[in-house]
Amino acid sequence: MTARFPNTRLRRPRATNWSRRMIRETRATPDDLIWPIFICEGRDTREPVASMPGVDRISIDLAVKAADEAKALGIPCLALFPSTPRDRRNERGDEALNKDNLINRALTAIKAACPEIGLLADVALDPYTSHGQDGLLEDGEILNDETVGILVQQAVLQAEAGADIIAPSDMMDGRIGAIRDELDKAGYASVQIMAYSAKYASSFYGPFRDAVGSSGVLQGDKKTYQMDPANRLEALREVEQDIEEGADSVMIKPGLPYLDIIHAVKGRFGLPTYAYQVSGEYAMLMAAAEKGWLDGDAAIWEAFLSFKRAGCDGVLTYFAPRLARMMGA
Ligand code: PBG
Repeated sequence: MTARFPNTRLRRPRATNWSRRMIRETRATPDDLIWPIFICEGRDTREPVASMPGVDRISIDLAVKAADEAKALGIPCLALFPSTPRDRRNERGDEALNKDNLINRALTAIKAACPEIGLLADVALDPYTSHGQDGLLEDGEILNDETVGILVQQAVLQAEAGADIIAPSDMMDGRIGAIRDELDKAGYASVQIMAYSAKYASSFYGPFRDAVGSSGVLQGDKKTYQMDPANRLEALREVEQDIEEGADSVMIKPGLPYLDIIHAVKGRFGLPTYAYQVSGEYAMLMAAAEKGWLDGDAAIWEAFLSFKRAGCDGVLTYFAPRLARMMGA
């Protein structure tokens, strides 16, 4: 047998744009996007987040407009995060259980104005605690079961206010099952749970804490509940438990440094799997693009494709509107 050289030319189908389009393995649409937005008090208020150029904290009336924008762009879902005024934060995070708190008012207003858009609400105490931890703090320890007892009530209030997806980001043990039970008991069997299953104790959350006003207040770190970046098998156990407890979908967070986890989770469990491209990932890309060190659109698109390629069904990303526009929306 005389082998001809080269027998196979992988460059052949790469040669033209039309052909590259035909063999493209990964497709993306705005359906793949969840857009996180930051809510603040006030009217017609827009406060830029210094470490996240292009991202603002916006008052509820402007958040309603953002929902209209999402709808026009074909983005199916918004994730809402409150920037709670300092005087509403205390040791126990009581504001989480105020049914008229900022996030609940925002959920109700957006749902009323734009019922076609899905609304995801984050469950955790950090927007409300004076120490910035996600749970109750006692003698330097984050109490698990006592915290879960509060989170279940927070989740029910959010469902009552209009949340379609409850997304617990606190990483307490057992909270998915407890929240599922409580939602069902309260008549919210149709409200979904997207579990922040594998949430790592990451340094990429810095700008977010800036955005929600908790960076200066955080005492200590979150390593006793968020995962060690060195671990992979433990992430699979976290996901498995959340599925058993009733999670409809799971999230891996941050995104880009954890593509291996996304790939492993999707391959093993197959359920709807999301990545959160977090604030620090946004800030890195924006900073490099602003300096002219990267082509912003191209790098943002490439990072997004990597999530899809790794197995994500969708991505929570501050680039959501920009990506939707790149998709031609
Ligand atoms: C809080 C929460 C955090 C993020 C989402 N929910 C920060 C944290 O755990 O300290 C981070 C999101 C981002 O960085 O974009 N429970």
